[in-house]
Parts: sequence; C-alpha cells; structure tokens
Amino acid sequence: MNFKITLLPGDGIGPEVVAEAVRVLETIAGKHKHTFSFQERLMGGCSIDKYGSSLTDETLADCQTSDAVLFGAVGGPKWDDPNAKDRPERGLLALRKGLGVFANLRPVKVHPALADHSPLKPEKLQGVDILILRELTGGLYFGQPKMREMKDGHQRAVDTLEYYDYEIKRIVDLAFELAKGRKKKVTSVDKANVLESSRLWRQVATQAGKENPDIELEHVLVDTASMKLITGPASFDVVVTENMFGDILTDEASVLAGSMGMLPSASLGEAGSRSGSEARMGLYEPIHGSAPDIAGKGIANPIGTILSAALLLRHSFELESEAVAIENGVHQTITAGARTADLGGMLTTRQMTDEIIKSIEEN
Ligand code: IPM
Ligand code: MG
Repeated sequence: MNFKITLLPGDGIGPEVVAEAVRVLETIAGKHKHTFSFQERLMGGCSIDKYGSSLTDETLADCQTSDAVLFGAVGGPKWDDPNAKDRPERGLLALRKGLGVFANLRPVKVHPALADHSPLKPEKLQGVDILILRELTGGLYFGQPKMREMKDGHQRAVDTLEYYDYEIKRIVDLAFELAKGRKKKVTSVDKANVLESSRLWRQVATQAGKENPDIELEHVLVDTASMKLITGPASFDVVVTENMFGDILTDEASVLAGSMGMLPSASLGEAGSRSGSEARMGLYEPIHGSAPDIAGKGIANPIGTILSAALLLRHSFELESEAVAIENGVHQTITAGARTADLGGMLTTRQMTDEIIKSIEEN
C-alpha cells in the first residue's frame, strides 16, 4: 500500500526524534512491502523564523491532504516572549483545529523493567495500563470570547470554557468504543459540582453509558482523579475528559512511566476523515516537549516518537500487525536493557533506534 506522511519535526529535539521514527517506518515499509512517502514542512518556532508564522496556510493544506502527520515538538526560549505576535504553541493549536483532530489518545503503560524509574513505589505501578482520551479542539483553549481589556481602571482577562453536546458525545462515544477492546471500564472526569460545562459533560457521558451497558462507567471529579492517579493508578482503564483537565492529567500520568520520553500520542478526527478511507485523520506526536536543554546533543529518547509512529500505522493506516511489530521491538529492546540518558543509560538517540530496528528485523 501507498501512503503519504507529512513530517513536522519542529523545534528543539523534535528533528532528532522524528528522523529516527522515519527510519523505523522505512524498516516496516521494507519488511511489509508498503510505500511510505514523506514530505517535510516547518511548524512552530522554526516556521516563525522562516515565514513569520508558526503555521502557514500552505503547511496546513499539505497536512490536510496527506494520509497522516508525524510531529516532533515546538517551542523554546527563543520564542518565549509573552508579548510576541505569534508563538510556536499557536501553530500546534491551529493545526489541531485545522485537522479536526478532536480526540487525543495518550496511553500510559509502565514497562516492568522501568518501574524503578518512576517516583512511585513499584508495587503501585503493577498492572498500570491507562488510556487517557483528552478532548482537543474545544473548551478553554478555543472558547470565545478570549480577550483582555481595561475595565474600571483595571486589566481584565477572559477565557471561555464552552462545550456543545455533540463535541462531548463524539469523544465519549470513542472512549466506549476503545474500552470494548480493553478492560471495559470508562472513567469520565469532570468538575460537575462547580462547572455548568461539566454538568453537560456528565449528562452526555451518562447517556452514552446507557447505550453501552457492557461497559462500566464511573464519574470522577477532576481533583479526585488527580489524587487517584497517584494513589491507585492501576484502577483506571479508559479515562475521558475535557481539554484543559486532560492537559494537566496527562502530564501527571506520564510520570508513572518513568520518563516522559517513553510516551506516544495520537490525535484523531472523525471516522472516515482520512480522505478516501474509513480511517481517521491523525496527528501523531510524542508527549514530551522540545527539551531545549538537550537539543542538538543526539541523546534524546526516541521511543515516544517511535511509538507514535506505531499509533499512526494502527489508527490512520489500519496496519495493526505492523503497529504491533514496532511496539514489540520497543518492548524487547527495553527488556534487553537498552537505555538512553533519561533512563539512566548511555545510548544515543540513534543507537537506541538501531537496537529497536534490529529487534524488528529479527522478528
Ligand atoms: C500538550 C502541550 C500543549 C497543550 C501546548 C504545547 C500548547 O502542553 O500537548 O499537552 O497545552 O495542549
Ligand atoms: Mg500539555
């Protein structure tokens, strides 16, 4: 099969890790007789430097017309001025909105060999396998009005937390669908004791629960959820929540895995949104940031991006066994003791990838 992938390496360590994921994808293409063609574009700080915009219309259009997008990271001290006209992060938000990728999947699994890297006691981590679904194109990030003004002699700032029922329904439905292939439990996280938008969220989730009687549904308030992620992370299966709560909870949950460098993510559109197919348009990225402190040194952990490439094969190309081949390769490599610096090891970004590629080729 023939697929077109747009690469957005971005800033900081983004280019280093994306290059390694491309090598892994090429290994898979060779082994399974697929053709992946790659086109590379700028997004984030590097795009501000070159074009004066963090995401140009041309780049967005190129992403929209490809079969999937693989993204590294954006941002860095160079573009941190709070008064700047454009910021690297704006490009990412515009890309999410422009691609319509409303569902951000952030799986958190703890590799048994890495349990001692987590700040939590290893016995708490046993059996942890959480899939967090974060709503990605609504809520506080996008609600209008969003503004600043002078009022009664004071500066006043407003962000708006707004949800339509259909925005909640499509992500909650996806949570139930994904729970079917897992432990059959959905935890819907909200703040329904205070927020109106959360009361609508809970109402829609409850209705979806009635339509899926084979799946257990629980509602947990976001403050309680943040505590339970630390005190009893193994009790979660699929967690579904709004944009801002999901942003915060996914950083918290990532700590469980020992290093942020390990974790992938997939941001998906509606079923059928990948043109000419039943599959979903997807934006795939590691959950770590641009890590300016280690950029250019070749020591970043490429695994979060490599596992994101596996999610790309699964969700946008429907190549399940190829996705599993990458995941097995990573698992075996970690089991065999390969470690980058973030995991206390000495391997470079490239050497770690070499090990993973070797493992894929041998299986
Ligand atoms: C994330 C990041 C982004 C977000 C930033 C970079 C805009 O924190 O993907 O979690 O807040 O969504
Ligand atoms: Mg975040």
